[in-house]
Amino acid sequence: MAARAPLGQLSPAGFLQDYWQQQPLLIRQALDPTTFSLSPDELAGLACETDIESRLILEKDGPQPWYLENGPFDAERFASLPDSHWTLLVQDVDKYIPQIAELLHQFRFIPDWRIDDVMISYATNHGSVGPHVDNYDVFLLQTHGRRRWRINTQPVADDNFIPDIALHILKQFDGEQEWLLEPGDMLYLPPGVAHHGIAEGECMTMSVGFRAPSYAQLIGSYADDYVESQQSHRFYTDPGRDLPDHPAHLDSRSLAELRAILRLESIPDTRLNEWLGCFLTEAKQHDAVLPLETPLSPDTIKQTLSQQPVLVRNPWARLIYTQQENQLNLFAAGHLLRLDPTLLDPVRWICDHDVYALDNVTQWQQDTAFIQLLTDLINAGVILIDETD
Ligand code: SIN
Ligand code: CO
Repeated sequence: MAARAPLGQLSPAGFLQDYWQQQPLLIRQALDPTTFSLSPDELAGLACETDIESRLILEKDGPQPWYLENGPFDAERFASLPDSHWTLLVQDVDKYIPQIAELLHQFRFIPDWRIDDVMISYATNHGSVGPHVDNYDVFLLQTHGRRRWRINTQPVADDNFIPDIALHILKQFDGEQEWLLEPGDMLYLPPGVAHHGIAEGECMTMSVGFRAPSYAQLIGSYADDYVESQQSHRFYTDPGRDLPDHPAHLDSRSLAELRAILRLESIPDTRLNEWLGCFLTEAKQHDAVLPLETPLSPDTIKQTLSQQPVLVRNPWARLIYTQQENQLNLFAAGHLLRLDPTLLDPVRWICDHDVYALDNVTQWQQDTAFIQLLTDLINAGVILIDETD
């Protein structure tokens, strides 16, 4: 469900037209900073967990400048850090802290499939991750303390990187524009804009990061899927071939036919669309969305629903749907569910929420198709029955 966009006076449509993927935008007091209650200690706690991706970046006082350490960390590691010039970064915080997942709802003026995660950083005085460029759009929200951002929109030369370090840090960076961000302020940056944010005192920054599959990732993943599929047993054919003018000449007709194969022209759009839906919803951590060992029957689910359980979406499960002709497809964590188009409202309801208030949808609870849909999603590990209460 789309909540109010944190864009100040600007409408989401105005943002998409003039800024998204085009130019930076500073929004003062975009969000109320008192709504993010994560403390530096809680962030450090997440960085000690084995499954959670975290990094520590030390500008100095490490074995070399801009030293990178990957988590998980021992709690004692934090006690031995210097007083300044370091940053702790934790990825995918939205998957672990429901309040942070809720924050993402305010960014749903960009479709769900483009959203990646919320990364949160804690920096000591003068801490930064160095001047760099990212390949994805980002909203940098200041949650605690102050950070001075400098940006440069000029293209970055391929050789402008510090050699022999684990991070992509610019050798030479001059700020074109500069702002001091206070709690609640937010800076939007499109991909490719060089930026450097330096903490002024201790501070925390939340990065809402977006996904943009690289061409290599899309083509490579589809090619892997294709090779494993039955279709890969097809071979090039050339009945009615013209007599060659020279045996070594690779003629234009052969080239065109081979290019058509590479352009996937023989693969129906429906097949490609279905593959894309599965690919785009694959869980970032594959083992985080697992099917139930003992699948439940629709009857059991129906009975369970009558007890008003709390149903929640697995935070790693991405959901999208497509509508083509008379077909409604729901993609959930890499699975495809082909559905009757009459299920559009329930599908939207499932996609819109991450906590399911079943008393709002009593009209569907006797509907066999809806119960089957919930059963499939629960059995796939996409929707979880929360038994913590
Ligand atoms: C940070 O939070 O320190 C870095 C975020 C970024 O530059 O992308
Ligand atoms: Co960045």
